Amino acid sequence: MKKHIKNNVYWVGKNHWDLRHFHGSEYSTNKGSSYNSFLVKEEKTVLIDTVYRPFSSEFVQNLASEVDLSTIDFIVANHGEPDHSGALPELMKLIPGTPIYCTENGKKSLMGLYHEEWNFKTVKTGDRVSVGNGKELIFIQAAMIHWPDSMFCFLTGDNILFSNDAFGQHYCSELLFNDLVDQGELWAETYKYYANIITPFSHLVARKLEEIRQMNLKIECICTSHGIVWRDNPMQIVNKYAEFANAYQENQVTVIYDSMYGGTQVIAENIVKGISDADPSVNVKLFCAASSEVSDLMTEIFKSKGVLIGSPTVHNGVLYTIAGLMEFVNGMKFKNKKAASFGCYGWHDVATKTIESGLKEAGFEIIMHPISANWTPDDNLMSKCVEYGRQFVKQL
Ligand code: FEO
Repeated sequence: MKKHIKNNVYWVGKNHWDLRHFHGSEYSTNKGSSYNSFLVKEEKTVLIDTVYRPFSSEFVQNLASEVDLSTIDFIVANHGEPDHSGALPELMKLIPGTPIYCTENGKKSLMGLYHEEWNFKTVKTGDRVSVGNGKELIFIQAAMIHWPDSMFCFLTGDNILFSNDAFGQHYCSELLFNDLVDQGELWAETYKYYANIITPFSHLVARKLEEIRQMNLKIECICTSHGIVWRDNPMQIVNKYAEFANAYQENQVTVIYDSMYGGTQVIAENIVKGISDADPSVNVKLFCAASSEVSDLMTEIFKSKGVLIGSPTVHNGVLYTIAGLMEFVNGMKFKNKKAASFGCYGWHDVATKTIESGLKEAGFEIIMHPISANWTPDDNLMSKCVEYGRQFVKQL
């Protein structure tokens, strides 16, 4: 069912209420997600993005009930990733010659994904196309937000920015608009989305926001491709992204561990005691990697100024949960965060060094040598862990 956005612009997407993981099993989506597609019905009829492939038939059927498909003048594919382009193959079977506006990289990704020679019209930043009634779509390349092919488009007259992945959330609500949904849920999912999807490209976000500012677009509404539509004070999310992109951190320390027989857990708990004791204002949080979603841990690290990661030594390395966590952390390219490692060992202390070098490689500043227990931590070691936490937080 279509939903009205503004004037002659409608939402024709798909709410995926029961989605619980995205990007395979990497990103937990406890509040579902949406694939937002938009229909502009001016003198020309324009479709902006589609939905994830499993919903192709439902999408095309719904769209056909709202508009005679043969009257669609052109399609805009802001991004080739299958969560937005997935319904194109089914749709294009019905309207095969319809132009598809996308970037050169968009054409590459769509051809690579679907092996179809559609009527691509490639565009660059500043290119415009009329939709009639004096309104135009202005294209803005947005490489790496989220893929090299990504772009935004801006509808003049209505002053709507269609930003695709940027400014989105994996969040599902029939209420659709930012001023109507639960603000706690909205912002929690906005932080998680930026932390997991956009963080590696923060340097490009800052540049893109400046470029958009210089274009003097009067943005009155932002239609993202996931989650809600920002119609109330849309610049609040643009300003929040400027904050996120600038090595974001809060007064938070995150301690993450996994444990075989409880030793590394005890070390973690005592480090937390020391941090809290030395600086009660710090929001120190403790997580077991084995019982946490890795995408939630990325959000916590994103918000932290200091991070401590621990594992026992196993098979001359670390537990696989910590290895997976470190791989994810390395990809995020976090900036301006301090760190240290801890753990237990029986014969050789390998884990703390492995974690420390992983943190260094990921761009963290190591501010203390690792702390480790040979066999089970005793009272003396636990006191040292409390002191370790105190010293760690003092150096942040
Ligand atoms: Fe929502 Fe990069 O796709």
